[in-house]
Amino acid sequence: MKVFIHAFGCQMNKLDAELAMGALRRAGGEPTENVEEADVILYHTCSVREHAEERVYSNVGKLKFLKRRRPEIVIGIMGCMAQKDRGAIFERLPHVDLVVGTREFPRIAELVEEARTTRKHLLACSEEAPVDEARDPAVRPNRTQAFLTIMRGCDNFCAYCIVPSVRGRETSRPLGEVVAEARRLVDDGVVEITLLGQNVNSYGKSFGRPGVLVELLERLDRLNGLARIRFVTSHPKDMSREILQAVRDLPRVCEHLHMPAQSGSDRILKAMNRKYTAAHYRELVAMAREIVPGIAIASDFIVGFPGETEGEFDQTADLVRDLRFQNSFVFKYSPRPGTAAAKLSDDVLPEEKKRRNLELLEIQLRVNREEHAALVGREVEVLVEGVSARDARRVTGRLRTNQIVVFPGGEELTGKLLRVRILSATPLTLVGEASAECGTNERPPATP
Ligand code: SAH
Ligand code: SF4
Ligand code: F3S
Repeated sequence: MKVFIHAFGCQMNKLDAELAMGALRRAGGEPTENVEEADVILYHTCSVREHAEERVYSNVGKLKFLKRRRPEIVIGIMGCMAQKDRGAIFERLPHVDLVVGTREFPRIAELVEEARTTRKHLLACSEEAPVDEARDPAVRPNRTQAFLTIMRGCDNFCAYCIVPSVRGRETSRPLGEVVAEARRLVDDGVVEITLLGQNVNSYGKSFGRPGVLVELLERLDRLNGLARIRFVTSHPKDMSREILQAVRDLPRVCEHLHMPAQSGSDRILKAMNRKYTAAHYRELVAMAREIVPGIAIASDFIVGFPGETEGEFDQTADLVRDLRFQNSFVFKYSPRPGTAAAKLSDDVLPEEKKRRNLELLEIQLRVNREEHAALVGREVEVLVEGVSARDARRVTGRLRTNQIVVFPGGEELTGKLLRVRILSATPLTLVGEASAECGTNERPPATP
């Protein structure tokens, strides 16, 4: 049974797709990247913007011809769009066999089997089923880096966002369970773990221990053999001095936050239900940089939220200019059915959204160009991620602060922590040369 899975959306979705592949492999499945030869074709979907959904409908629409030629194949839609559109998917795409939501995907092997024998449309979109987190640590595409889900769902109900309705209520996994999973991953060769949650810094709230992320980081920091820990995504309203001190004090925790601001206008932030002001966000960034000098902070922004004026957009542009993010992900507002903002008129014209989007990216690019140029000549700690896709004689890696660096080397360096001297820079990548290896248990040299 050859299995093709394509995942859209966030890192959590990518990990869920990986877990689904793990479940299918345990049932005798074998991954393939070629749709044409697959016996099972699965799309792990995202609903966060309309565009993401259109791509799925168009990709899966085209599979109609393949299904006609090979009626025995099983086609499934999983993840957020499955949870949102459910049975309506069968109406639009009758050649789909399976629709599996965000809580039942761990049962995928059994569902595929059922679809193969009954040849009926199968819908598995329970809203209550607890998500089975069982994971075979040996089944993963990347030997040295792993994602680890520490919480599911979201309770924030940002006015524009579909996530709370497709992923359900925020639920944190028990501390011991997370540490045990991390331990198994490290025993199997993982050197970098990225903890995942939609609001990762409120980890523990659902079991009555808000703030316990610090204890989790402390426990993971003691795992022998683990070199790096990251955690994403942080909500500004839950960022604390204690978390920042943990980033400063725990050698394996990288000096890197993903803490989306979304907008620089207080009126828009209020309409988005984000629960902070631009001034408060600026103070948080200042506090983070005071406690952890050189910390890299990345942000997301939405342009063209309903009613966003030119002046309000300018406040966002000022924020991006002033705060010098390590990276900014900019999205054009897309109305999502059932969200609070969907009741407001989507009144910023598409070409205006596009212009605002490009303007923010332009400012961010300038910041990156300057920040990267300042790294030239410095020696930094790099974790090698693998051979460069563009040049087989070079490897790519990341700084603790998340910038990408390319330098001469081969496959044998994957997973190694090296000291790399930066020789040149573009706004998107750094180019360097390795000078030495760092032991994974040694406190790495300070990097910017
Ligand atoms: N939980 C994370 C992000 C979830 S979605 C957080 O709160 O930070 C990732 C990003 O998509 C969001 O940060 C937001 O910038 C963007 N996004 C979410 N809904 C959107 C919508 N309806 N239109 C455009 N962008 C959206
Ligand atoms: Fe969506 Fe807001 Fe939750 Fe992030 S915090 S997933 S943007 S509702
Ligand atoms: Fe998309 Fe679902 Fe993630 S909507 S961003 S895949 S939680």
